[in-house]
Amino acid sequence: MNVIITENYESMSKEAAKIVVDTMSKKINAVLGLATGSTPEGMYAELCRSYNKGEISFRAVNSVNLDEYYPISATNNQSYRYFMNKNLFDKVDINKSNTYVPNGEAKDAAAECKSYDELIASLGGIDLQILGIGRNGHIGFNEPNGELIPVTHLTSLTESTIESNSKYFPTPSDMPRSALTMGIGTILNAKKIVIMASGKEKHEAILKMLTGKVTTMWPATMLNLHNDVTLICDRRAYYGE
Ligand code: F6R
Repeated sequence: MNVIITENYESMSKEAAKIVVDTMSKKINAVLGLATGSTPEGMYAELCRSYNKGEISFRAVNSVNLDEYYPISATNNQSYRYFMNKNLFDKVDINKSNTYVPNGEAKDAAAECKSYDELIASLGGIDLQILGIGRNGHIGFNEPNGELIPVTHLTSLTESTIESNSKYFPTPSDMPRSALTMGIGTILNAKKIVIMASGKEKHEAILKMLTGKVTTMWPATMLNLHNDVTLICDRRAYYGE
């Protein structure tokens, strides 16, 4: 695993954006695997700045997001579709019909998951997958468990994730308790992976990942099975400062 330690959140965001720009400049129709949450917000702001300066275009890009709450309406301001529109898609020249987020309104979750994996395959796979990491080591919404599911699936969220994310909802009970998420296999199939982390609360999960071992109880450790992963983390996440 390549490791880039940055001074702070801003420099973490810039480093990650550089890798996205590099991928897009090598392949104009790159397939970007995208994440939501507070970690990549700064990276999206950097990408918007590069776009505004005329350095990059998303015209031919396809994007596939990692996950979405379930059930949730796309217009709910806590949905990941809403997040992506607000932080990136509405601000750049991407063709919205080439942006994919698992459908939190799907009637049949299993069918939605199956067609999401088929969609990724039909796009030729993911060129670059961006990831954040949960305090408990989750990636996407692959939560710690004795067994992990390789493909896109419906999953229950753990108490740790509900505690971290429920503050964004009007009341904690408004937060969905389930999500649709790419599986570990879907993520590991990406050609290149960047995982970002900022803040002391991610330190333990980063340490587990950096042991180089693999355990389903810390899902991010599964990234040790991939040969092109870059961890970009700030000093607080790396040193637990
Ligand atoms: C989001 C996602 C999650 C987050 C993780 C960290 O699409 O898949 O795994 O990356 O929960 O969230 P933040 O960045 O808010 O700390």
